[in-house]
Parts: sequence; C-alpha cells; structure tokens
Amino acid sequence: MGSYTLGAKTAVSQGESSTFTGVPGSKSEIDKDEMIRITRKVEFSAAHFYHNPKFSGEENERVFGKCSNTHGHGHNYTLEVTIAGEPDPATGMVLDLKELKDILQAEVVDRMDHRHLNYEVPELAGKIPTCENIAAVIWTLLEPKIRQGKLDRVRLYESADLFADCTADGQ
Ligand code: NI
Repeated sequence: MGSYTLGAKTAVSQGESSTFTGVPGSKSEIDKDEMIRITRKVEFSAAHFYHNPKFSGEENERVFGKCSNTHGHGHNYTLEVTIAGEPDPATGMVLDLKELKDILQAEVVDRMDHRHLNYEVPELAGKIPTCENIAAVIWTLLEPKIRQGKLDRVRLYESADLFADCTADGQ
C-alpha cells in the first residue's frame, strides 16, 4: 500500500513524462543507473458527494461545504500512473505499454467511468470518495496487476488545480 499526499498545480513537473531518476529507497532491487519511470495517463468522469454518517447534517455541510449536497456532482478525473523499472534490452521498454493500457481500462475506467462513486464502486464502499481516497483505492487495484517494473506513483487529478499522489516510498 502506498501513501498519498495532496498536491497543488505548481508541484507538477513539466516536460517529458519519462525521466531518468535514482532509486528512492532500499525498496527497489533495480540498478539505479538503469532505472527509468514511465507514465501513462487516462481520463474518466464520475459523480460523488462527501458525507460522513457520523456527522450531523449541519456538520457535514460545515466540513464539506457544497460537496455535501447528496444529489452529487461530477468531475472529469485525469489519472497518471507511473511505473519504475529497467528497460528490457530487447524492447527498450520498462513494461508492455499496451498491457498497462488494458490494465488501466479494466481496473479503473471500466470500474469508475460514468459511475456514481458513492454507490457504484464496491472498493470505495464506506469511504468518502475524496481525491485522496480514490487515488489510494486505485493504487490497491493496480499494484498486484503490474508484473514488469513496480508501481511508483498514482496521481489523480480531480481538476486542473487539484491532485492527490499515492507513492511507493510515501514521499
Ligand atoms: Ni467533488
């Protein structure tokens, strides 16, 4: 399980989605000189609202503001998934990018796109479907499916200026 942090737009790095980098910790057995991170992006739309059943109606409104309206509202989410690893000498790739696309489709888009996240995604049952909680659930769904390289970061944008990060090293 990774950990998540909330980010701001200013924290987004610009430019290439694929960058050489060092190994962040002892977690990886990958040679740091050879390691690279590759990122794939996918979009989906979904509805949600924020409600804590332990709060009174008044508290829900105070804590969550407009997001507490139980009729819900929608977002166009952008998900960036980063895999770290050594490129295979035979293919030059960290992992099969077609396979990664299929995994993102099956685990995230098919599950969440045009869904109401409060009601229709079992993995989010009992959780307030914040950007942070959705990113953490996506991490849990994806991690066991990555067979080449390692899941390094899940970044979920709820809007252009708000995103949550779930990362392997928790930093
Ligand atoms: Ni919202």
